[in-house]
Amino acid sequence: MDQIVIRGGRPLKGRIPISGAKNAALTLLPCALLTDEPLTLRNLPRLADIDTFGHLLNNHGLSTTIEGTHPEEFGRVMTVRANRITSTVAPYDIVRKMRASILVLGPLLARAGEATVSLPGGCAIGNRPIDLHLKALEALGAEIELAAGYVKASAKSGLPGGRYVFPLVSVGATENAVMAAVLARGPSILENVAREPEIVDLCNCLVAMGARIEGIGTETLTIEGVRDLHGATYAVMPDRIEAGSYACAAAITGGEVELLGVGEAVLGSTLASLREAGVEITPTRDGLMVKRTGTLHGVNISTAPYPGFPTDMQAQFMAMLTVADGASLLTETIFENRFMHVPELARMGADVTVRGRSAVVRGVAGLNGAQVMATDLRASMSLVLAGLAAEGETTVSRIYHLDRGYERLEEKLSAVGADIERISDG
Ligand code: EPZ
Repeated sequence: MDQIVIRGGRPLKGRIPISGAKNAALTLLPCALLTDEPLTLRNLPRLADIDTFGHLLNNHGLSTTIEGTHPEEFGRVMTVRANRITSTVAPYDIVRKMRASILVLGPLLARAGEATVSLPGGCAIGNRPIDLHLKALEALGAEIELAAGYVKASAKSGLPGGRYVFPLVSVGATENAVMAAVLARGPSILENVAREPEIVDLCNCLVAMGARIEGIGTETLTIEGVRDLHGATYAVMPDRIEAGSYACAAAITGGEVELLGVGEAVLGSTLASLREAGVEITPTRDGLMVKRTGTLHGVNISTAPYPGFPTDMQAQFMAMLTVADGASLLTETIFENRFMHVPELARMGADVTVRGRSAVVRGVAGLNGAQVMATDLRASMSLVLAGLAAEGETTVSRIYHLDRGYERLEEKLSAVGADIERISDG
């Protein structure tokens, strides 16, 4: 398995282009199932998960063509077309590789009247149930049964539509419900939906395809089902988590990095927490300048659904706070096991104590390079950030986690002065 080797202690300086959002792309791709016309997505990040999703869509009979973009360019243009759906089954061997495969459930049900999708199972950060996905689809009129590790949803005479109040905010369940409701025979009202920017991107893309959705960006979506959707060309929004991660990289190394293609709104509540920690963030003509000259200060954060502090930024923010002046309290309210980066950071000299859902970080003067192991996507970025600041050499193993969410990471970091290289074992 590949490893990344970082020789830390160098302040980052330069410009980093921010790629299209992984978590937007993963919900935009299944929209192609909802029409027999081509859906062209621009600014798609080059990520392992996007490739896996493309293979999954091929399995359902969709064609995926990638328009030639210069290899030096970031992002890709992919056209996906479902002339006809040849299979409504999402098999275990694909779903087990990528949980987001569950996002074909709603669109397959809406377009073909049935879907059989392998249950995704848990992952490193939690058991990740899909009960809310299923309850929402039942509320829209689907029949749901579970058997042999698969969920089978059916609506032979089409989904009537309906009303569902989510008892808990769920990004994926909201996405599945919205993609099912847009082709329902009647109106649907979805309440207490997730309001993440990726949901707004999904709704905007569906509207561009002819869907009728009111309340986009609010906690209540009113959807008037239509008979057909048409194709569209849509550009994926910039990745707010990638942007926040590289902002932490500039902060932890005491550098000055311009994040290209993003504005203050993209960083959301992460912006306020970065500034509270002593990071200077200034809008520029091409993006945001992120600079840290003085000391970092301890900051208390508690993750929450949007517009709260994103859980996907918790591990990266913790890495930055390990070298802050003072203590910080980080509370993870979304997932039950999202502190697996803590023991690895401790091997580099960080002082972090975990008690249940909270972690107390006591800032130390500096970190030391070490051999560490990635356990999940955001934890792996946390270790890279610590390695960038640490004295000496850090080797991060199992970086296939990183490749799922960060497009050409070494290239982007090398371009701003990081001493980082990928060691391939084969
Ligand atoms: C999406 O996961 C993201 N993934 C995650 O990003 C992100 O951390 C998460 O939303 C929260 O923002 C993608 O968009 C592909 P949820 P999702 O349903 O949809 C519980 C990353 O690093 N829940 O909002 O799976 C669940 O266990 C990844 O990019 C149920 O109980 O998250 C969790 O505690 C990691 N029943 C909470 O809700 C359900 O049916 C929020 O999960 C569904 C979820």
